[in-house]
Amino acid sequence: MSIPRHVAIIMDGNGRWARRQGMPRIMGHYRGAEVAEEITKACIDIGVEYLTLFAFSTENWNRPKEEVELLFDLLRNYLTGKKEELIDLGVRLKFIGRRDRIGKDLRLLMEELERDTSKDYRITVVLAVDYGGRDDILRAVNKLIRLEFDHIDEDTFSHFLDLGDIPDPDLLIRTAGERRISNFLLWNLAYTELYFTEVCWPEFTVEELQRAIEDFSNRKRKFGRVLDE
Ligand code: IPE
Ligand code: IPE
Ligand code: MG
Repeated sequence: MSIPRHVAIIMDGNGRWARRQGMPRIMGHYRGAEVAEEITKACIDIGVEYLTLFAFSTENWNRPKEEVELLFDLLRNYLTGKKEELIDLGVRLKFIGRRDRIGKDLRLLMEELERDTSKDYRITVVLAVDYGGRDDILRAVNKLIRLEFDHIDEDTFSHFLDLGDIPDPDLLIRTAGERRISNFLLWNLAYTELYFTEVCWPEFTVEELQRAIEDFSNRKRKFGRVLDE
């Protein structure tokens, strides 16, 4: 079986799952965070090198204020005190997205985790927080303008994006039946294989992950070329 080097996931359906259980939406996010941890461990076992998880989009600010606040509380609580466990597991944590609209406590925690988990790792977990693909591209362009570039190639441009020198995702998984990109990694997904499942994120399992990877294994990645001739 061919193992994708970089798996990206749009973790969708937390709210729907919770409502189906008769619970408030935030309980879906809570369970979703546990699933993210289980899937990270499975990716380490499988040998995935990079796992990028979409946690909060630039558009998610348009949700009710209460849900936004609870989401950030959840993220901050979840990451607090996780450092040793991440280091023991061999997880290097990296964050992509804007940093200028989130609280200072969380921002400092993110910086600390990025700094202190960067040695001796087995997997890089990229958490996309206040991330939008268009915003990522525009921030890169504005950096280039400030640096007075007048010409640029694809590799250099990629370097200025949030994923930087991390290779493009090989496999994108989106849960909960939606078949769209929702402004995730627009540049980096150019040749990514897409996998959609009806299962909501809080009920996503290691078996589901294996199914997605098996499906990926059977894809013929052509990158515009002609194969078998
Ligand atoms: C994904 O679940 C998590 C975030 C976008 C933060 P949703 O909250 O979008 O769940 P649904 O799509 O409303 O069910
Ligand atoms: C995408 O899910 C963003 C995250 C998973 C963080 P959404 O639920 O926000 O996407 P739409 O609104 O269905 O496109
Ligand atoms: Mg959703």
